[in-house]
Parts: sequence; C-alpha cells; structure tokens
Amino acid sequence: MGGHISRSFIHELINRVDLVDLIDSYFSLRKTGQNYIATCPFHHEKTPSFTVNPEKQFYYCFGCGAQGNAINFLMNYAHFEFVEAVHELASQVGMEVQYEQGNASVSITLPTSLYDLLTQVAKYYQQQLRQSPIAITYLKKRGLTGEIARDFGLGYAPTGWNNILTTCGSTLEAKTRLLEMGLIKKNAKGDYYDLFRNRIMFPIVDGRGRVIAFGGRLLQDNSKEPKYLNSPETRLFQKGGELYGWYWARQNRPLQHLVVVEGYLDVVTLAQYGIKNVVATLGTAVTHEHLTRLFRTVPEIRFCFDGDLAGQKAAWRTLERVLPFLQEGQQVGFIFLPPGHDPDSLLRQEGISKWNDCVEKTLPFSNFLFDTLQQQVDMSHLDGKARLAKLAKPLLKQLPTGSYYQLLMIKELSKLTQIDETRLTNDLNDLIEPQPINSSIPNKTLREYSLVDQAIIYLLHNPTLSQYVTYPNEKLLGLPDEHIKLFLQLIELIKLNPKIKTLGTISYEVDQHATEYKNIINQLGLVSQGSLFTNHLHMIDMDEEFKDIIKRLNEEYNKQIVFPTKNETQTDEKKEHGY
Ligand code: GTP
Ligand code: MN
Repeated sequence: MGGHISRSFIHELINRVDLVDLIDSYFSLRKTGQNYIATCPFHHEKTPSFTVNPEKQFYYCFGCGAQGNAINFLMNYAHFEFVEAVHELASQVGMEVQYEQGNASVSITLPTSLYDLLTQVAKYYQQQLRQSPIAITYLKKRGLTGEIARDFGLGYAPTGWNNILTTCGSTLEAKTRLLEMGLIKKNAKGDYYDLFRNRIMFPIVDGRGRVIAFGGRLLQDNSKEPKYLNSPETRLFQKGGELYGWYWARQNRPLQHLVVVEGYLDVVTLAQYGIKNVVATLGTAVTHEHLTRLFRTVPEIRFCFDGDLAGQKAAWRTLERVLPFLQEGQQVGFIFLPPGHDPDSLLRQEGISKWNDCVEKTLPFSNFLFDTLQQQVDMSHLDGKARLAKLAKPLLKQLPTGSYYQLLMIKELSKLTQIDETRLTNDLNDLIEPQPINSSIPNKTLREYSLVDQAIIYLLHNPTLSQYVTYPNEKLLGLPDEHIKLFLQLIELIKLNPKIKTLGTISYEVDQHATEYKNIINQLGLVSQGSLFTNHLHMIDMDEEFKDIIKRLNEEYNKQIVFPTKNETQTDEKKEHGY
C-alpha cells in the first residue's frame, strides 16, 4: 500500500509554487492590473477571459468557469494524474514529496522521469551524430553548420533495430517508458524494435526547453519509408498543439511577430541566417491550439507558403482558420515564396536578399482574402460583384462580431461591391452564430451579498482573517444563514492548517473533503477574484472591514436571542437543551 501524500505537504507546495510562472511556462500571460490574463485554453474564445491571480494562486475563466490551483491546472491542462502533478510541482520547487505514513513509494511512472528519459535519448542521438561521418556529410550537404546543429540539438539515429532499446531500455521499467514515449515498438511476435532508424533527429521541445518528442528525417529519400517521421502522440506530446522551434524563437523576446513555416529544416536554416522568430507546424495545417498559443505571444503572425497552387490552397485553409482570431491589434500576413521553393531552398539557392524581398511583400490578411475571392468572379459585371459579396459574407461573419476589424472588412467589401455598408452589416447579423457562454458571476456589488457571504468572500481572499473569529463558535452557528456552517468550517479548516494561505489551498481542501460546498466556494471565490472586489479592496482596510462584519453577525445573533422570531432559532435552542 502506498501511503497518501500528506495534506500539509500539499498546502505547503501550493504556497511555494508560483502559479503565474507555472502557467506562463505553458502559454504567455499578460499582466492587467493585479491579475494576469490570456485567452482561455479550456474553451474557444476570441477575447481573453482566463485570469490568474498571483496573490490567491488561483486561476479562473470568466467565460467557461474553468478554475483551480496549480495542481488543478496541471491535471486539466497538461493531463497529469493527481500524484504526477504533485510530483511535478515538487520537483519544480525542489521539495521532496512527503507521505502520511512511512516512506512508501508510488509505483507509477512520473513525468519527470519521462523527461529525463527523453533527454537521455536526445543525448544519445547527438553523440551518434558526432560519430557518424555519413550523417555529418548529410547535414553539411544541406548547408548546416555544426553550431546550428548543436543549437537545435540535432542528432542521428543510426541504422539497426535496437540501438535505443539497448542503450536506454535495459530495465523493464525503462522499456515500458520507451514504449510509452513511442521510441520503441513491439512487433507481432512481441519483440521490441527502435522506431527511428537511420534518420537525422530533431528533438521537439516544450515551452520550457524539455524534450517531449522527436522528428526524424531519412538520410536518403526512398519510396518505401516516409521522409519524415514524428513520435506518436503521448501524454507529453500533442501534435496539434506543438510548434517546432517555439522554445528557441521565444528566447528572442520581445517578439513583434512570428513566422510560421512548414518544415523542420526551414526553421533551422532561417535561424542559421539570423532569422530566429520562426516556428513550424508538425506536418499539419495550423490548428486552433497553434493559433491560440501564437496570438498569446505575439500580435502578428506571418504564414509562409510556397507560391505554387498547393501553397495557395494551404494559405487559404489557414486564412479560414484564422478568421475568428482577428481582434483589433492582431495581424496576420501571408508570405509567398517563388513557386517550388520553401524557405530552406530559397535561402540556400537565392540568398537572404531574396527572402527579404518576399517578406517585404507580405500580403496583409484582407488583401489575400479579397484578392483571392475577386479572382473567382468577374468584377466588371454587377453579378460578379454580387457574387463577391455572397462569397465574402460567411467569411466576414466569422470575424469577431462587432470588432473594428469586422467593421473595416465590411467597409472594404462595400467599396468593392458598391453594396451599402448597413445592408451588408444587417445581412451578417442575420447569419446568427451561437453566443459564447457568459460569465457565471452575478454582477452584484459586495454589499449586495449577505453578511455571511461577505465574510466568506473576505476569508477566501485572505485566509489569515480567520484569526478574528473564535472557534468553535456556537453563537454564530445559531444564525439563520444558509452558508454559516460553511463559513465556520472554513474557519476551522484554516485554523487547523496554518499553511492555508491562499484561495488555491482552500480550493484544494474543498475539492478533497467538502464537495457539497464546492459550488458556493467557487461562486464566492470568484467574487473575491473579480475585479469589482479587487477595486473595492484598494480603498479599504480589510482587517477592519472583516472585524466589522463579524461584529455585525454577533449583533444579529444577540438580537435574535432577545426577539426569537425565527422558527429555526427556536428549534436549534430546543435541540441544544434536549427538548
Ligand atoms: P526537406 O525535404 O528535408 O527539405 O524537408 P521539407 O521540410 O522541405 O519537406 P516537405 O516540404 O516535404 O515537408 C514539410 C514538413 O512536412 C516536414 O518538415 C514534416 O514536418 C512534414 N512531412 C513531410 N514529409 C512527411 C512525411 O512523410 N511524414 C510526415 N509525418 N510528415 C512529413
Ligand atoms: Mn525543404
């Protein structure tokens, strides 16, 4: 039997971890006032409603209600199991996980050891590259310097079926982990073999620079095997969300814009030529997750495509995906290369100045949209113009509703078609799309909550206020407020666990032990997180305010004793006196 992780250790851990840092290591947060914000990773949205409060160590999305502490974040966002999340956080802050009894160990694979394993594998490939003349020759032929190969951690997976297996998979446990990471596979006979053989290896790293997967390119193109092979999806690696080069590009902050290309080698070659704000999708079209991540980091994205027909088509697919993301202040451009070129071949064959020419001619989003549509109609006729409007409307509809961006695009369409702007706007509005879920927070001021709820809100905001309430407190328990029991339980919880210092820690306890109160805590915790309350807080002395609320609660109780009008009070008293 593995022991339980000690509760007080978890409290300490949540206090020690910085939730802002943690979340920021997965995607960028922007500071606004006291909180940090981002577009929510848990639901599709155009304007940011995901907030992180550094003081409370709590995140909350005003759009979908996703919320929690550092542990919840890792579980919900990065799909960790509870125990894994605790271990991950502990290793980040250099704490050793403590168990309730003894030192029983947990028998699950921890992600830290998976990261270690992948690092070990990457090192092995790198060492193999240094020893392999044919791999070095190949990279040289492709124009890469040793320096850039080192910067990107490139390696070589030698020929043979069991190199990784024998070097990194000596124990059963190691084999299991290699299998989970997709680096070895099992054949029908039950024998293991290496996935990557005779390939140049590109480590794929996460936002923190940890290896999470690999891409491998054949040394010699042949028709039998795919030119590029990626690790399969694992719990560390979701293809649709990852961008090759992300970590390296992010080293060059502040970034004004990012360029999105198609291939591994495009990223590496551009970097070698000094262009380092480049990322590549991993053999897929750009996804919603990619766009969310990109726009969190930079206001402008430029997509680079081959100028041929296939490139044009791919660019159009990208345009369609990007539409809902175009807020004011967010820009998208399209870089078209001469037909038949990708950035790598263009730089090698034509040089940097040719690349710069193409970048200079970056086609703004609106131009690409209207140019492409106009090519499909005959603009010299009325019906051509009407058709343009018909084609453009469903696209413009997908722009953030009512945004200036949408407005300007409508204006442009009106100019091109000579259809009245108001008419176009009305037509767009008629194509109604479902409204996003609205904030679940009632728009009440603090004073409109009951006294007990106000007390809870203060307490969630600042647990140390519990010092002003004696416990057990039979007097307060006698109050006819539906949340008074919860309030006193919170007081007890905090008094018994002095390490509870933030909403993050309280929410952990509530999750574990008081699920019936979860909704109330969530609602009131949110108020304490909300900007309305935070603004209010700047103007008051919280301790005094809280003491005053407690005083008024006591007065209410005393009033009831003198004039016992409420039935509940009487029944309570009867019970107490054994009637
Ligand atoms: P080089 O031929 O080495 O210059 O690569 P490239 O990047 O020019 O190749 P290409 O334009 O054919 O492909 C672009 C990207 O698509 C690659 O970087 C890979 O991510 C992906 N890709 C290409 N071929 C394959 C394949 O056979 N399988 C998979 N899974 N992905 C591929
Ligand atoms: Mn290429």
